[in-house]
Amino acid sequence: MEDLKANIERDHLPQHLAIIMDGNGRWAKERGEDRLFGHFHGVQSVRDIVEASAELGIQYLTLYAFSTENWDRPQAEVSGLMELLVNTIRKEVEQLKKNGIRLHVIGDLTMLPPTAQQELTEALELTAENDHMHLIMALSYSGRWDITQAFHQLGRKIQAGELSPESVDAEVIAAHLSTRDFPDPELMIRTSGEHRISNFLLYQLAYAEFYFTETLWPDFRRQHLYKALLDYQQRERRFGKTSEQVSSEPI
Ligand code: FPP
Repeated sequence: MEDLKANIERDHLPQHLAIIMDGNGRWAKERGEDRLFGHFHGVQSVRDIVEASAELGIQYLTLYAFSTENWDRPQAEVSGLMELLVNTIRKEVEQLKKNGIRLHVIGDLTMLPPTAQQELTEALELTAENDHMHLIMALSYSGRWDITQAFHQLGRKIQAGELSPESVDAEVIAAHLSTRDFPDPELMIRTSGEHRISNFLLYQLAYAEFYFTETLWPDFRRQHLYKALLDYQQRERRFGKTSEQVSSEPI
């Protein structure tokens, strides 16, 4: 497996990797267990992927941990998952701090229980000085929520006369999204064989490469990540241009 890692070109990594961690429920069901058992094992994969990404030199890693739609799951799963997320962050924050990883959270945090909000604020503060890697947890997040909240901010600024409607372009919109401090992801991985974007970073994934794998999230470990990165490195990103134009551009 080390061979896979050795073949990765370090100067051609995505700067920002985004992952839809899917398949925890099915992984648990295959074992005759409760869905929460799958989420619990999914945390091991999170740890491994965060560590491997930091080791490789990926600068931004966004993980889709909980969508705004996930609030509609059975109450027991929602509260169990919330508890797991907050406990994991609490437990891992020292390690993140030590490894130079800065934690960020994007999403509608007003939906979270106040104690969870408090825990998160503390964790964010504890890692605020780090800059080796940025770990972005999408929590109570959806792409449509993000775009909607950006519209609200822009509307208020236009109403206050701080901004003219004509000056709103792609860059201005990006600057009002919850991801304003991060570059757009170049690669998005989704596990578990589903080929959907599921309301993830709708605006930000405009030019991202997508990588889908059948592997369920609790089984997804660093060697799967290396495989995805090698696949990404074979691809040519054209941003709407022709292949000839791209190959004649200076690197
Ligand atoms: C999707 O699987 C996964 C989730 C909704 C939760 C992801 C959360 C974790 C992996 C725990 C993460 C912990 C941290 C700290 C980020 P699913 O339940 O939709 O699976 P299914 O499609 O098989 O039902």
